[in-house]
Amino acid sequence: MRVAVTGANGMLGGEAVAQLSGRHEVLALGLGPGRPPEGSHRWLEADLGDGQAVERALSEFGAQAVLHAGAVTDVDGCEREPDLAWRVNAGGTQQVARACRALGARLVAVSTDYVFDGAAGPYGEDDVPNPRGVYARSKLAGEWAALSIAPDCAVARVAVVYSGRAGARPTFATQVVEKLSRGEPVKAFVDQWTSTTLAASGAAMCLELLLDTGYRGVLHASDETVLDRVDFARRMARRFGLEGEIVSVRTADVKLLAPRPLRGGLRVERAKGMLRNRPLGIEEALARFHVEWGRRGAA
Ligand SMILES: NC(=O)c1ccc[n+]([C@@H]2O[C@H](COP(=O)([O-])OP(=O)(O)OC[C@H]3O[C@@H](n4cnc5c(N)ncnc54)[C@H](OP(=O)(O)O)[C@@H]3O)[C@@H](O)[C@H]2O)c1
Repeated sequence: MRVAVTGANGMLGGEAVAQLSGRHEVLALGLGPGRPPEGSHRWLEADLGDGQAVERALSEFGAQAVLHAGAVTDVDGCEREPDLAWRVNAGGTQQVARACRALGARLVAVSTDYVFDGAAGPYGEDDVPNPRGVYARSKLAGEWAALSIAPDCAVARVAVVYSGRAGARPTFATQVVEKLSRGEPVKAFVDQWTSTTLAASGAAMCLELLLDTGYRGVLHASDETVLDRVDFARRMARRFGLEGEIVSVRTADVKLLAPRPLRGGLRVERAKGMLRNRPLGIEEALARFHVEWGRRGAA
């Protein structure tokens, strides 16, 4: 099958390309200098913010299925550059959806737990979004564009994505390991409750949703455990056998441009009942992250 992945140089898209490699004809679309792991895919640079570049690339490839994982993901950066956020997260998703409609291709568009305000999480698929901030609003607009333009479409929401793969971008998870390894303290929000998503686990769920189901609508595809970031950092430290200080901070005491959901998190019962690739519990996810990290060292 001809499968295209946007955001293929990102954490989730890169994992998806690796998992598809050798099984399908893969077009990997991205923009910046990062590249997905070596494999049998074709790489193409195309800007989701350009209005037509990605749509054209998908049409020329004749995509039969598209995993749309490309987005401007810097939440505070979206407040600084709202035009870019809207152009890429909403407009880019429209492009992808238009191409899928024209091609009769199936689409899975990746979205975020940030569509919820975090007043009373964790949230199920049928809870009503209330996005706060440019990133959150532009992603919800992307969800609506995908679902209303592409007839065969699912939206997969994930949360706090992290990857130990070599070349994957730095995240809170990688900072915890790196700082504690250097003997530096780690600051973590004690009042932000969230789900997390190991990129490899999220990618596996998204690809199964794309290729092995005909599910239409929203599906929560994060890992299972909802926890605060201090707990996440402590578990990470334990898994890596790292000692060191984890300093609890409160969101209101830190200057952040975009609002953060506090009682967030995604309920994943639907994915658990539907997919073979089940959302992981936090300890299993951290065990796999630990293995990825070990391979990074060996690479
Ligand atoms: N990261 C999280 O914690 C998180 C949480 C919830 C939901 N999500 C969603 O999960 C999906 C995957 O994100 P991720 O976690 O894999 O983040 P990521 O590593 O930041 O990947 C996003 C990718 O989108 C690409 N991109 C950005 N602007 C682009 C443009 N104008 N044209 C083409 N490509 C562009 C980026 O390319 P460059 O490398 O060139 O910038 C990057 O590779 C996104 O839809 C995101 O909104 C992420």
